[in-house]
Amino acid sequence: APRRLDEYRPPAFLVDTVDLIFDLDPAATRVRASLTLRRNKAHGIADAPLELDGEGLDLRSVLLDGEALGANRYALGDHGLTIRDVPDEFTLDTEVIIAPERNSELSGLYVSGGDFFTQCEAEGFRRITFFPDRPDVMARYTATLIADPARCPLLLSNGNPVDRGTLPDGRHWAKWEDPHPKPSYLFALVAGDLVSVHDAFVTRSGRQVQLGIHVRRGDEDKVDHAMACLKRAMRWDEEAFGLEYDLDIFNIAAVSDFNMGAMENKGLNIFNTALVLARPDTATDADYQRIDRVIAHEYFHNWTGDRVTCRDWFQLSLKEGLTVFRDQEYGAATTDAALSRIDDVKMLRARQFAEDAGPLAHPVRPAAYRKIDNFYTATVYEKGAEVVRMIRTIIGHAAFRRGFDRYIARNDNSAATIEDFVAAMREESGFDFSQFMRWYEQAGTPQLRFEGEYDAAARRYTLTLRQMTAPTPGQAHKEPFLIPVAMGLIGPDGAELEARLEGEADAHRGTRVLLLRAAEQRFVFEEVAAPPVPSLLRGFSAPVKLSGHDTAGLAHLAAHDTDGFSRWEAGQEYATRALLDAIAALQRGEAVATDPALVAAMAAALDLAQEAPALAARILSLPGKDVLADRMAVIDPDAIHEALETSRAAIGRALRDRFAALCGAEDASAPFSLDPASMGRRALGNVALAYLMAADPAAGLDAAQRRFETAPTMTGRLGALALLADTATPARDAALAAFHARWRGDALVSDKWFRIQAMATAPDTLDRVEALTRHADFDLRNPNRFRALVQAFGAGNQRWFHDASGRGYALVARMIGEVDRVNRQIAARCIDVFASWQRFDPARQALMRGALDALLADPALSANAREMAERARAGS
Ligand code: ARG
Ligand code: ZN
Repeated sequence: APRRLDEYRPPAFLVDTVDLIFDLDPAATRVRASLTLRRNKAHGIADAPLELDGEGLDLRSVLLDGEALGANRYALGDHGLTIRDVPDEFTLDTEVIIAPERNSELSGLYVSGGDFFTQCEAEGFRRITFFPDRPDVMARYTATLIADPARCPLLLSNGNPVDRGTLPDGRHWAKWEDPHPKPSYLFALVAGDLVSVHDAFVTRSGRQVQLGIHVRRGDEDKVDHAMACLKRAMRWDEEAFGLEYDLDIFNIAAVSDFNMGAMENKGLNIFNTALVLARPDTATDADYQRIDRVIAHEYFHNWTGDRVTCRDWFQLSLKEGLTVFRDQEYGAATTDAALSRIDDVKMLRARQFAEDAGPLAHPVRPAAYRKIDNFYTATVYEKGAEVVRMIRTIIGHAAFRRGFDRYIARNDNSAATIEDFVAAMREESGFDFSQFMRWYEQAGTPQLRFEGEYDAAARRYTLTLRQMTAPTPGQAHKEPFLIPVAMGLIGPDGAELEARLEGEADAHRGTRVLLLRAAEQRFVFEEVAAPPVPSLLRGFSAPVKLSGHDTAGLAHLAAHDTDGFSRWEAGQEYATRALLDAIAALQRGEAVATDPALVAAMAAALDLAQEAPALAARILSLPGKDVLADRMAVIDPDAIHEALETSRAAIGRALRDRFAALCGAEDASAPFSLDPASMGRRALGNVALAYLMAADPAAGLDAAQRRFETAPTMTGRLGALALLADTATPARDAALAAFHARWRGDALVSDKWFRIQAMATAPDTLDRVEALTRHADFDLRNPNRFRALVQAFGAGNQRWFHDASGRGYALVARMIGEVDRVNRQIAARCIDVFASWQRFDPARQALMRGALDALLADPALSANAREMAERARAGS
C-alpha cells in the first residue's frame, strides 16, 4: 500500500545512542548494534511493540538489557523485527551477518573495486542492521570498524576519530564518534585502500578543520579542483548564510559504483567519482562546473539536511529544494550570475517541465508514494529550489535571511517540515503564505499569458496577466497560484521607462515584483511616457511558461533588456518560434526559409565573441530538441531534427568565415583556466564548429579532426568528437577508435565515449548502440556506464530513440529489464524516458506503450520499476 502524507504518526520509540561494530568482510560482514531506546511517551503510545526495519539481514542474536531473547519474544519478517512486551527504557543488542560483495543494489553496505562503501538514503540503513529507519528518529552514533589492515588501511565513518588499535589476530580497528544526533539515512562508512589527499580549513570562529578527499590509487592527481571547491563552499556558507562547519574533520570519499551523484552523510560525504575527479585532459568544463556545484551542495546539506533534517520523506524538498537553491546561489555568486541562472533555468525546463507535463507529474511535496527512491526527482529538487527562490523574491533578501536564521535556530538538531520552514519566513516578513503553499501541493507548470495596452493620451499602460494550469494525474482542478512576476518596462528607445503602479507614491524605473494571485488580474501603470515592451519574469522569477510577446517585442527585449537573463531568454524564445515555423513548413512539405532576423541576431551574438564569449556561445546555441518538443502538440522527431539541421546550415553559410575563424585549434600554450571567459572561448569554439560542419561538411570535418587531435582540453576534444560522431565517416571511426585506445583505462572518460555514441545523430546509430550493449567495456553493474549508454540514448537521442521502427524503444526496454535484476533503483529511474508517450503520433504511442507493457508483463519486475512503469503507462 502507498504511504500518504496525511498518515504521519510520530515514532513509538526513540533511540538515544547507537553503537555499531563492523567486522568487515566482503562475503560475511558481522554487524553488532547496541541501541538505547525509550518509549516516545509524549505521543501517548502506551504499550506498542518495538518495530524495527530490516531487510536481507541474517539475524544471529537479540539481547534485551543484556538478556538473550528466545524466538517466542520476537517476530522476524521480510521487512523487519517486532519485539513484544518491552519496557519503557532499555538497551537492545543485535548481531547480523550481511554480504556486501553480493549487494549489487548499491544500497546499504556494498563493495566497489574491493573497497567498502555505504549508501543509506533513503532506506538503506535497514539493509545494514535492524533499526527504526525513518528520519525523525535521531540518535548519537559511534562506529567501530574492524578490518584486515592490508586490504583496508583506511577506516572512515561519521564524526570524529576517537580511538584505534590492533587486535591479537592482526586486524586493526578504528572508532568514530559523531557528537551530533542524526537520522539513520546519514550514517556512512568507508573502508579500503584509498589514497588520501589532505588540506585544512579554519572556520571564521577559528575552528581548525582537517579536510580529506579519498580516491582510488592513480586518481590522486584529479582532486585539486574538488578540494578548492570545498574550501570555497565552506567560506561562502559562512559569508552568505552565517553557517559554520561543526566538526574537526570533513571527509569526502569517491566511489565508482554509485546510484546517485553524491550523498551528504554527516562529516563523511560519499561521491560518485564523476563528481570529484577532474583534470583538464579528462574532464570538460561542464564536468568542472558540476563538480563545483555538487561539492557545494553536499557540503551545504551539513546544515540544511543534517543539523536540520526532515520529519518524513514527504518533506524531502525541505532539504533538497533548499539546498539546490543554496548551491545555485553559490554558483551565481562565485561565477557569473546571469550565465549561471541561464544554465539552471535551461536544466529546469529540460527536465522538470517535461516531468510536470506528463504522467509522472507530482507536487513538490508528493501526497503519496510506494518507493521513496522514485521521488528524487527534478520536481522535488529543481522546482523545489524555485519555490524557495520565489519566497525570497516575495519577501526580499533581508527578511528571507532572517527567516532562514530563524528556521535553523528553531529546528536545530531536529526533524522538521515544510510548514516549519514557511512559518519562519512568515514570522520574519509578516507575509501570509497560505495561497503560496499551493506551490508545494499542486503539480503542473502554470501557463502565464499577458496582454498590454497603452493609452498614449492618459500615459497609462495596462498589463493583464492570466494564469492557467492544466490537470495533472490525480489533480483535475487547479486553484490559482501566487506568482511573483519580477518585471520592468522597456521604452521604444531601449531604455527602461519610469512608471507609477497603482498604490505606489512616485514613479520609478527598474525592476518591481508584481504578485499575481487570481486567474486574471490587471496592473495599471501611470505616468508612462511612451509605449513599453514589458520585460516579464526577470531572472525567471517563477517556474511558469510565459506567452504574449510578438516577435517584434522579443527582438526588442533581446537587444535592450537590462536583465541579462531576460535578454538571453527573449533571444531564445525568438529562435524557438523561428524553428517551430520551420518545423511546420517541413510538415507541410515546404522548403525552410531561415528568418533573416535570426541570422542577424546570431551575427550580433558573434560581435560579443571577444568581450563576452560565454554569453555569445549561449546565444548561438539553438534551442534544444526537448525545448522544441515541449512546444508541439504532437512531437515530430524527424521534423525537429531536420529543422535544426537546416537552420544551422543556413546560419552557418551566412556567417561561414566568422565561424571558421572561431573553431580553429585551441591555444595550447595558454594556461588552463576556469574563468568564464576561458570557458566561454572553449564553448564558442565548439558551437562555431557545429555551424561550420552544417554549412560546409568538408571544411567542417577537417576542422573537427584538427580540433579533436590538438585541443589541450577535454572540452575541445570532446566537442569535436561529438560532432564527428554525428557523421558516418571514416574520420568518425578513426577518432572514436583513437579515443577509445587512449582512454579505455579511465572509467569516467570511457563513459564519455559511450555517451557520445549513444547520443549521435548519424544514420547507423541504432546498430551501433545495439553493438555497444554487447561491448566488452559495457557493464550493467556500473550505474555510470548504464547511464552513459542506455539513459543517454533514451533521454538524449530524440532522433533515434524515437525512430519510427520502434527499435530504440525495444532496446531501452530490454536493457531496463536486464538492469532491474541487478539494481532496481537504476532500472526505475530510466523508465521516465517512456513517460512522454502521449505526446507522440499514434504509431509511436502504441510502440512506447508496448514497451511499458512488456516490462510490466515480467512477473519478476521490481516494485521500484513497477511503480514507475505503471505511473508512466496509466497517467496516474
Ligand atoms: N541526498 C542526496 C543528494 O541530494 C541524494 C541521495 C539520493 N538517494 C537515493 N537513494 N535516491 O545529494
Ligand atoms: Zn541534496
